[in-house]
Amino acid sequence: MATDDFQTIARVGDIPEGQGRCFPAGDTMIGLFHDQGQYFALSDFCPHMGASLSDGHVEDGAVLCPWHAWRFRLSDGLWLDNSRSGIRTPTFDVRIEGDAIQVRIPTTTASAEEPAETEGSTPNPSCSPDHPPSDSGCLSENPPSDGETASS
Ligand code: FES
Repeated sequence: MATDDFQTIARVGDIPEGQGRCFPAGDTMIGLFHDQGQYFALSDFCPHMGASLSDGHVEDGAVLCPWHAWRFRLSDGLWLDNSRSGIRTPTFDVRIEGDAIQVRIPTTTASAEEPAETEGSTPNPSCSPDHPPSDSGCLSENPPSDGETASS
């Protein structure tokens, strides 16, 4: 049975203004960004070659992928360098409940995480459920249950 419940993945204050962090949630990795007082949740996997978008630079409502600098709009995931292509990274609804940052996670997101181009690519291991967060920007090895805080 599919559920689209909001899950607490971080707390207000966990992500400095103008930065992103990745969090495991369900069967996906969420890049959570804090830009101009708002929070945005995108799939953390760049649709180009799979880099961790949360390692990218946040600027003007967009994140620049750390590998090849493709820019994705935080509000809808659209690839801004060629917006007519329609290429975008999946986005997720975000809400703030008290000091909890909650994201609506669909139960099946694996197909949305496949990079658009894989020839010669190596998925970024820095933010993946298969790799511990100790060598990456991931803030939580295990997704917190609702009401719990992700810890570093
Ligand atoms: S632009 Fe993101 S992996 Fe190339």
